[in-house]
Amino acid sequence: MIFEKIDRIRDFVREKKGQGKTVGFVPTMGYLHRGHAALAERARRECGTVVASIFVNPLQFGPREDYAEYPRDFDRDCRMLEECRVDALFHPPVEEMYPGGFCTHVEVEGLTGCLCGKSRPGHFRGVATVVTKLFNIVQPDRAYFGQKDAQQALVIKRMVEDLNMPVEIVTVPTVREEDGLAMSSRNVYLTPEQRAEAPVLYESLKEAARAVSGGERDARTLAGMVRERLSGLKGAGIDYVEIRSLPDLKEVERLDSPALLALAVRFGKTRLIDNIVLEV
Ligand code: PAF
Repeated sequence: MIFEKIDRIRDFVREKKGQGKTVGFVPTMGYLHRGHAALAERARRECGTVVASIFVNPLQFGPREDYAEYPRDFDRDCRMLEECRVDALFHPPVEEMYPGGFCTHVEVEGLTGCLCGKSRPGHFRGVATVVTKLFNIVQPDRAYFGQKDAQQALVIKRMVEDLNMPVEIVTVPTVREEDGLAMSSRNVYLTPEQRAEAPVLYESLKEAARAVSGGERDARTLAGMVRERLSGLKGAGIDYVEIRSLPDLKEVERLDSPALLALAVRFGKTRLIDNIVLEV
């Protein structure tokens, strides 16, 4: 069932809750891939009713980012959601989410000033705002986010805790192509040459994780290893390679507890992110 109107999806969820069902929610921007399927399948296993949303949220794109060109394929997305046995899809037009006069935003401080927040100012404000609205509309018991967007998942967890939102945030492991490249809707932008180079992102992360297993604890050395490996890429520029504490994303000098090693790399206009948790 596809709903474009807020009132209609609310009626649907109210009815399911009335039947005693727990509601799992998978928010997406569409152009779905196996990473999204993993979120929906997990929600299916854990919840009586599964709602997904497809909404390309203009608020989380900067003025020079790819909002207009963001890939869209609604029919294919619907087929995939059906295969994952999603019960309802919320697919609102922009005016339904942001009617004239809209002027309220949600800002999660601290966690959003580093990593992707640094190179994409306003991005997490847009994410936090739309996710708050989606949570208020769908009122899920659980919501599912991918570990690939580790910072996003941490920001949302913080927001949910700080604002006492009655929803459990579930983070699902990154789904990868056979060669290790993290699934992303933006992978379609890569040229064949860029696509051939892209698995190096995950290889460099794994190399650092191996160094940690071998006893290396110095964050600068570990990030330096990753940078060196990435600097061998012909068509790519490094946006950031950083090691940050979990869950508060503070700078780390020495690893004495699990930390997030995260990177962002630009292949031409395509920006790819990936991360790994360094276990100590
Ligand atoms: O991860 C995404 O696809 C988006 O940031 C989200 C969570 C659906 C908000 O627009």
